[in-house]
Amino acid sequence: MTQIAEIAQKMTRASKKFFYDPSTKLDWPEHLDASEWTMSPELVSLYGTELWASMSEAEQKKLSFYETGGFFSLVLNGERPLLEGMSHRLYTLEKDLEVTEYMHHFLDEENKHMMMFSTYCRKYLGKIYPEKKIPVARPMAKGEDDIAFFTKVLVVEELSDYYNVFMSDDDRLAKICRDLNRAHHVDEARHIHFGREYLKGLWERHASGWTQAEIDSFRGWLVDYINASWRDFLNPSVYRDAGIKDAYAAREMAIHSAVSREHRNRASVRFLKNLVACEILPKVPELQ
Ligand SMILES: [Fe+2]
Ligand SMILES: [Fe+2]
Repeated sequence: MTQIAEIAQKMTRASKKFFYDPSTKLDWPEHLDASEWTMSPELVSLYGTELWASMSEAEQKKLSFYETGGFFSLVLNGERPLLEGMSHRLYTLEKDLEVTEYMHHFLDEENKHMMMFSTYCRKYLGKIYPEKKIPVARPMAKGEDDIAFFTKVLVVEELSDYYNVFMSDDDRLAKICRDLNRAHHVDEARHIHFGREYLKGLWERHASGWTQAEIDSFRGWLVDYINASWRDFLNPSVYRDAGIKDAYAAREMAIHSAVSREHRNRASVRFLKNLVACEILPKVPELQ
């Protein structure tokens, strides 16, 4: 049995053991509002800036409330194309039956995550924030489409996992927020373990046949994609809902804020180091 098949088998066992019904998994309070912290203040995108310091605690909590909705919408919107791309690759790209069996659990769990995130947004915000990313078609080397797909999966999973882990045990937060973050992390820990190994295998299989120019082009795209993904955390619609007057100026300020940039680099370092270990990136890049 190959190494990836062994990992898949182990992950399948765990997924079966922890199988759950998303409609009964969490205790949803009837009402939740901005009187409680719903996101750890340190993770709120304007934390540490002058604007944040100028806000009252009630205003900060209000921003945390809408950022939570923005964050859950962002993960949900990242998981939607993931389901599509993963189903498309079942039994076509991937023919190993141990691996495809785990991919079915992966799909099942992502669908459950989307159900839980959308329940949160529907009950407490009454909406899902729309996705802003515009896919750009570009010429690709052989196998690059699959590598880019599994890389995008890891970007959404690894970045959101940093937030999930941070908030799982934060006693300042409303219980439903801790519970939802923890529930997501438990499944994602398996997805990330599998996804890293799977991506590594794809990279080894295909990139060895690429020219240096093709490798450089992929690496350039990847760093741009990670930077663009971080931009999605700075959402003017969220700022507007939280009562910030000039939402676009707040976004621009956060993009260039040293505190905010440090946060993005710190939250990405585990993921980036892993990409370097797999030789997908030559060194840990400085994110913008
Ligand atoms: Fe997920
Ligand atoms: Fe996942």
